[in-house]
Amino acid sequence: MAKHPIKGTIDWFDDRLEVTKTIWPATAGHTVPANAKWWYVFGSATMAMFMMQLVTGICLALVYVPSADHAWDSLIYLNFHQPLGWFLRSIHFWGSTAMAAMITIHMTQVFLFGAYKYPRELTWVIGFFLLVCTFGIAFTGQVLRFDQDAYWGLGIGAAMMGRIPWIGPEIVDLILGGPILGAQTLSRFFTLHVFVLPGAVLLLLFFHLYLVLRKGISEMPVAGKRVSKRTYEKKYFAEIERTGVPFFPNAAKRDMIFIGILILVVGIIAAVVGPHGPNGPPDPMIIYTTPRPDWYFMWIFSVLALLPRQIETFLIMAAPVGFIVVFTCLPFWSGTGERHWRRRPAAVIVVILMYVSIGLLTYIGFPSPWSPHMMAGSGVVSPIEYYQGRSPLEMQGAVLFQYKECRNCHAIAGLGGQRGPDLSDVATRLTEDQLRRQIIQGDGNMPAFGRNLKPAEVDALVAYLHTLTPPGENPAQPPSRHEIPALDLPSSTAGGTTGNSSGRGASAPARP
Ligand code: HEC
Repeated sequence: MAKHPIKGTIDWFDDRLEVTKTIWPATAGHTVPANAKWWYVFGSATMAMFMMQLVTGICLALVYVPSADHAWDSLIYLNFHQPLGWFLRSIHFWGSTAMAAMITIHMTQVFLFGAYKYPRELTWVIGFFLLVCTFGIAFTGQVLRFDQDAYWGLGIGAAMMGRIPWIGPEIVDLILGGPILGAQTLSRFFTLHVFVLPGAVLLLLFFHLYLVLRKGISEMPVAGKRVSKRTYEKKYFAEIERTGVPFFPNAAKRDMIFIGILILVVGIIAAVVGPHGPNGPPDPMIIYTTPRPDWYFMWIFSVLALLPRQIETFLIMAAPVGFIVVFTCLPFWSGTGERHWRRRPAAVIVVILMYVSIGLLTYIGFPSPWSPHMMAGSGVVSPIEYYQGRSPLEMQGAVLFQYKECRNCHAIAGLGGQRGPDLSDVATRLTEDQLRRQIIQGDGNMPAFGRNLKPAEVDALVAYLHTLTPPGENPAQPPSRHEIPALDLPSSTAGGTTGNSSGRGASAPARP
């Protein structure tokens, strides 16, 4: 009987290439534990997303111009002129999101299932560096947008690296191609994004997969079944011999289904939401911008903003080193013993804590209340009670408060920036001298305004701030020299005894 022509062609090639004899059994044909089911799809999903990024990235590179002058324009061209260019950018952006998500889930699953334990320690370590490279690609990729987010994010990143003792400036120089962001910067990041880091991923991936094939996919953990260096491999391979199934088509089928759904989801989101940016063109002259990193770096952004200043530099230096040490040492430190998460409560708690804290930090990163709200000074007015009944000097202070952009960081009646405290009732906390000192010298995260204000302007600001009390409360007073207990005499304190010329007393208009 004549062979089917397709089968005939395949066989013809197979006779010459000997795929079924040599490569197939060691790769797609290798046996996997029968109970390794849907939990095991995330690794291949990550790889599929990486492949998608390679393809879409190559297409983008055909149009993108990695030069500081033209990068932004070429993205605008892709978004609006090139047919389906927007969709390509969108797929590449959402694909990177999906890849970051998949690799995170994959790693969490491997950790919770204790799959990193003997004899798969190296698989884990290489996997961790794959994670590092993935986020490196994501970071360098957002710089390639070369919009304001990129420009400012990079500036902040460079300022951080510059703090590394001794070699900080050299590292900044190497990465930015000079002491400042310039023409060279983009070429460096382009090279990292399209050659160096993807190359590193391919190399690491090769070893990762090699180890996965050699040491086998871990079987589903069973509570009480401990990993011991003496017996594990013998038992594992005996079990695989008895009950294992070939990877293709059994497990491959599940991988394919999941990857298909994932690509569909990414495609739909990409089509509906569209590409990310570029937002405004990068311009060091524009400081009225609030740069935001892409969402997967948002938590780092929050951490940096919220760190107390005293430990900031130390943590910026120590945290990455700490992460690398902890993650690479983990399988050597707990390489044997229980694998099931029910017997490893500490592991479960670590995962929950990490997800909750990263989730919370990401959540507060989006509105970033600590960033000055750059337009608040020109856009937000206070309720009338905050102006009513003020003297001309105090009114002048109110205007200055608006005009000198104090409002960008300070709210009044809850309206305005949140970098500094709400000043609606600041007069109850600070005396006039303290207000004056705060304005002139600044403090903590508040810039010193001494040089930007004339003495008369400081007077006006202090006079105004000193009227800000809740109804019925008096402003803070300097401690009196003669500590006479206050008598309940009419108008002994009300009405402002400290040069407060407004003459407001019991009959003053109601204030909040
Ligand atoms: C860049 C943001 C920023 C700007 C602009 C700013 N401040 Fe502040 N301000 C802060 C922060 C942050 C604090 C909290 C003190 C600290 O961090 O040490 C603060 C504290 C204060 C306090 C003390 C409040 C308290 O309850 O202790 C006063 C008063 C004050 N600012 C007045 C002003 C005035 C007046 C201006 C405008 C001339 C101004 N600030 C502009 C950030 C800012």
